[in-house]
Amino acid sequence: MYVALGSDSLSAIKNALATFGAICSLKVVLDLMRFVSSLIRGHLLPRFASCNLLKYGKWAVVTGCTDGVGRAYARELARRGSSLVLISRSQQKLDAVAEELRREFGTETITVATDFSHGRDVYERIAEKTRDLDIGILVNNVGVMLDYPMPHGDVPEESIWRHVLVNVAPAAVLSRLLLPGMVARGRGAVVNLSSSSAIGPMPYMNIYSASKKFLEFFSRGLAAEYRPHGITVQTVMPFYIATNMTSYSDKIGRTSMLVPDAATFADSCVRTLGRLESTTGYWTHELQYYACSNVPSWVWLTLGEKLQKELRQDALLKQKHA
Ligand SMILES: NC(=O)c1ccc[n+]([C@@H]2O[C@H](COP(=O)([O-])OP(=O)(O)OC[C@H]3O[C@@H](n4cnc5c(N)ncnc54)[C@H](OP(=O)(O)O)[C@@H]3O)[C@@H](O)[C@H]2O)c1
Repeated sequence: MYVALGSDSLSAIKNALATFGAICSLKVVLDLMRFVSSLIRGHLLPRFASCNLLKYGKWAVVTGCTDGVGRAYARELARRGSSLVLISRSQQKLDAVAEELRREFGTETITVATDFSHGRDVYERIAEKTRDLDIGILVNNVGVMLDYPMPHGDVPEESIWRHVLVNVAPAAVLSRLLLPGMVARGRGAVVNLSSSSAIGPMPYMNIYSASKKFLEFFSRGLAAEYRPHGITVQTVMPFYIATNMTSYSDKIGRTSMLVPDAATFADSCVRTLGRLESTTGYWTHELQYYACSNVPSWVWLTLGEKLQKELRQDALLKQKHA
């Protein structure tokens, strides 16, 4: 059926469409301006300014500090004068990191060998070791990932529990343990290592991506709760960094412009503390985040699934030739 519209109706529709277009354009422009301003504040200006971390307190706690991002983070904090509580699985590796920091930066350290996959019982010792310390910074870095992308039905049950016990629980329990002291002192910072895989569901890395979404939500909520107390809570959502975690495929395990090594990443990320409440930590990752967070969710899902399937093929080939 054909319905003729009067000129009044036509011009009302035209006006509504024009207003809608103007609002959409304004949103795009505002988002772009916010993005450029965070790039300048978080990644350009800090290059020319000193980064005083001791204002948060004398000690910093870093979990998962014997390799990759955690180790690089510990080095950056030590280089800037923090004393360090080092928490990771192996006492031998902890001793090596502590000795390296003492030798290079004269850093005072306390080590707590902890396997977070053992669950609730491990926190009592951390509580004892940190009880009387002026802890200014907590870096909730520890994390595990699947050995390579796989459908959920193939994930070993033990790996599912490890994702819950290592990726999810420590950030919540250690924040609960250390925040009251920070509040009493009126200063402190908590850094939570989430991941860009929390932007949307990630097929074939499903349990990992879901655990990182927990961290993102937890961290953003915590920031709102503790901002009024003078505590900084930062959510870090990086894309790929060349570490043991990504070594299953050369596409993401080798450094490139989009894939920094852990030291480059940590140097950049530490400088954003107190400047950006939510960041990917590295400038090329900020560009990727801007692009990915502005596509429709079906595009993210389709491209994510394609990428993970390619990385899975890579990993299986690599295993075959190993
Ligand atoms: N690499 C990336 O592309 C990437 C991207 C986004 C986010 N992230 C996040 O960044 C964080 C660090 O990742 P990474 O790439 O540096 O990982 P990594 O190289 O695998 O290092 C993980 C660290 O955690 C420790 N660890 C592992 N399981 C543990 C457990 N059960 N108890 C205590 N410590 C344990 C490891 O100790 P051992 O030395 O004893 O194994 C190691 O020091 C993770 O939260 C990860 O999700 C990484």
